[in-house]
Amino acid sequence: MWFITVKPLRRVISFGGSTIYNSEDDNINVPYCSAFIELLKENPEERYLIVVGGGKTARQYINAAGEYEIDEEGQDLLGIEASHLNALLFALLLNKAGIRTYHSKKIFDDYQGFLEQYDVIVTGGTIPGHTTDKVAVQCAAKYGDRELVKVTSVGGIYDDDPAKNESATLIRMIKASELIKVWGTEHTPGSNKPIGVKTVEEALEKNVKVHIVGEDIGDLRRALFEREGYRGTLIIPE
Ligand code: UTP
Repeated sequence: MWFITVKPLRRVISFGGSTIYNSEDDNINVPYCSAFIELLKENPEERYLIVVGGGKTARQYINAAGEYEIDEEGQDLLGIEASHLNALLFALLLNKAGIRTYHSKKIFDDYQGFLEQYDVIVTGGTIPGHTTDKVAVQCAAKYGDRELVKVTSVGGIYDDDPAKNESATLIRMIKASELIKVWGTEHTPGSNKPIGVKTVEEALEKNVKVHIVGEDIGDLRRALFEREGYRGTLIIPE
């Protein structure tokens, strides 16, 4: 008798580099990484695809390259490498915790079979000209259920910069088309928005919902498994 095992689609998460690297104490954010590992262990039957951003490391290298007038493509390549440094760290931590994880630098070349073999795939940037958020949207469309959870220290999209304006209000839900109107579509290497503008365009095109949450594991859990009830912003692909 033949049994066909249908593996669940992957839950796709995009981690801003600032989640891995805590700029307050200028170090790797070990407590967050540990809490995340525990979250993964709660649901061992689930499969995940994690895209990691370049964070402070990317910005330092991009800024240095800018000082020497290295072109945008060169700056982007540095950002991509920084994201994979973070991705490798993440993959090593997860493996050490007993979670079968593979760090892929070529996420869209699945001929190697790693997508079948591993419970968790960790990746970073792919090509110059966009961000790891956009890669994550592409992954959610190709390997997931068209839902992406983006974790960022800012915790969502506000109507003004919350670092500068205390009364800035968190936007709970917004259409991708409205955000594009407000932000425009220009790409800047190392841009500090809670989510890349090109990502919003890609989410609209690929019909992917984006849930943005802060660094609270409870919010991440709700966004990942209930898709509601979290503090953050939902971008709907309309
Ligand atoms: P990030 O995705 O980390 O950018 O990639 P970000 O949104 O500025 O940073 P976070 O979310 O706060 O961590 C860092 C930089 O690397 C280049 C871009 O210049 C990007 O700004 N990059 C990254 C690419 O060119 N292509 C990619 O696929 C990924």
